Amino acid sequence: MALKMRYLELSRKVRDVRMLAIQGIAEAGSGHPGASFSAAEIMGALYFHKMKHKPSVPFWEERDFFINSKAHSAPGFYAVLATAGYIDTTEVKTLRKLGSRLQGHPVRYSERQKNHSFPGIEYSGGSEGIGLSVAIGIALAKKRDGKKNRVYTLIGDGESNEGQIWEAAMAASKFKLDNLVAILDRNKIQQDGFTEEIMPLDPVRDKWAAFNWNVVEVNGHKIEQIIDALSRIEKVEDKPSIIIANTTKGKGIKHMANSPQWHGKAPPKKHVPILLEELQSEILIAPSIIAGEPENYEEKVRRAERAGADLIHLDIMDGKFVPSTSFFADTIKHLRKISSVPFDAHLMIEKPIRHVHEYIDAGCDIVTVHVETCTESEFLEINKMLLKAGISPGIAINPGTQFPSWLIGHLNNIDVMIIMSVNPGFAGQKFIPDSLDKMAEIVKTLKSNNYKGFIEADGGIDATTLQQVFDAGARIMVAGNAVYGSPDINSNIIQLRHKANVAIETKLLELATINDIRSDWIKSRKNLLIPLAKELGIEEDLHAIK
Ligand code: DX5
Ligand code: ZN
Repeated sequence: MALKMRYLELSRKVRDVRMLAIQGIAEAGSGHPGASFSAAEIMGALYFHKMKHKPSVPFWEERDFFINSKAHSAPGFYAVLATAGYIDTTEVKTLRKLGSRLQGHPVRYSERQKNHSFPGIEYSGGSEGIGLSVAIGIALAKKRDGKKNRVYTLIGDGESNEGQIWEAAMAASKFKLDNLVAILDRNKIQQDGFTEEIMPLDPVRDKWAAFNWNVVEVNGHKIEQIIDALSRIEKVEDKPSIIIANTTKGKGIKHMANSPQWHGKAPPKKHVPILLEELQSEILIAPSIIAGEPENYEEKVRRAERAGADLIHLDIMDGKFVPSTSFFADTIKHLRKISSVPFDAHLMIEKPIRHVHEYIDAGCDIVTVHVETCTESEFLEINKMLLKAGISPGIAINPGTQFPSWLIGHLNNIDVMIIMSVNPGFAGQKFIPDSLDKMAEIVKTLKSNNYKGFIEADGGIDATTLQQVFDAGARIMVAGNAVYGSPDINSNIIQLRHKANVAIETKLLELATINDIRSDWIKSRKNLLIPLAKELGIEEDLHAIK
């Protein structure tokens, strides 16, 4: 079974990449947020999971190579290398400064260039369209030397206007370079507009297939899809592969998303605290499949995936720790075959230490046990098993349970904390209001102990309670009845996302007001705030801006 990616930790690192990149760009007063953000998951999946590389041994003979041909994504690229450990994260703030090693476009490291580069940068990306050719040179050399190194290259869709890309595409298939993987950051925008208006690239899949490449298409912001594609590609022989990653330029900051004007523009420094808050406010929706009509889990998973759920929440109940019984690892094994959405397993069972291996084998991505069902040493053993398998470990706390202080010493290895807002055992229960203060209290304790993981709210989360738990610190929202309690799952999830959006915009507005830049902030985001004006109570603000 392939090593899992510790999904939540990887998601957090990609979030950190965006946060670092935007600070560097704002500090420099220039740079490319659009590309840095559209390629964040792609570069994160490579450096934080897939590629063989050692930040402490940057020239390791057996390393895989990453050729960043889409060089203007430099701020994001530097942020990935910093988060991976090649440089200190504080150095990203020297972006584009005179004498900085982090120049506007990356410079390949060499002794001669040591003042303008750092070990780990394999390629000098200036005018684009060239990186694929360099990647082919490396892949061909390694193949001829019988070496196992793999070569990855990131290319852009604007960059694909360059004729050299297509010359290179022919050469790569001629030489059957099955150790070469190109990833196309398909955000459909280039410097001065939309690619399909400037130089139509579609049908891009057919083009690469016609050049005799193995072509795979993914959602370029779903790391599970990127990593799954990278693993499947390793089995392809005698053909180079390309992953067409459908992405959104500027993804992560709503007023930058899918907007050509944020191709190469820096936000004002005074906006940075709010932009960082926005990047930490992304909400993941996790439908709980025990809710709604009994069983029919397969259909529920399929419909949740179609409706764009971020996670699938799996409530495992043994009829002992909780009054009811649901399903177990064998059911999950079956569901794993039909969906690539990350599985968030919530174990409400006694003695989880005896069963965790079953949920590892079943293909769960996150496994959470209840603090009431294990001792500290049992938790540590469970935690060790999960981390070894690359699964995100979680701990859940019931409404009546005090936060156990022994957890403080293990926070680095806990990716999610479920703070129950109902007594476990059934979906469709009423939200316990007291759990809000408890959640806020626990979040305060965790923050003061440098907890980097996620807070998950579970129990009675719907359109009326989501904003409250968001304000208390939750970022993963389990929703059972709110999703499966009525037939139209699509609009149920849309409604939750709308409430999440209102909660986030309210929080950002509060911060903008505290930072005394309320009208400036509203102005920068006017178009997407107008539809929410009534719910946010900003009609007057918008009127004043006109
Ligand atoms: C309860 C479970 C919850 C529940 C959520 O024990 O852990 O995940 O199914 O369902 P709602 O959202 O309906 O409370
Ligand atoms: Zn649950």
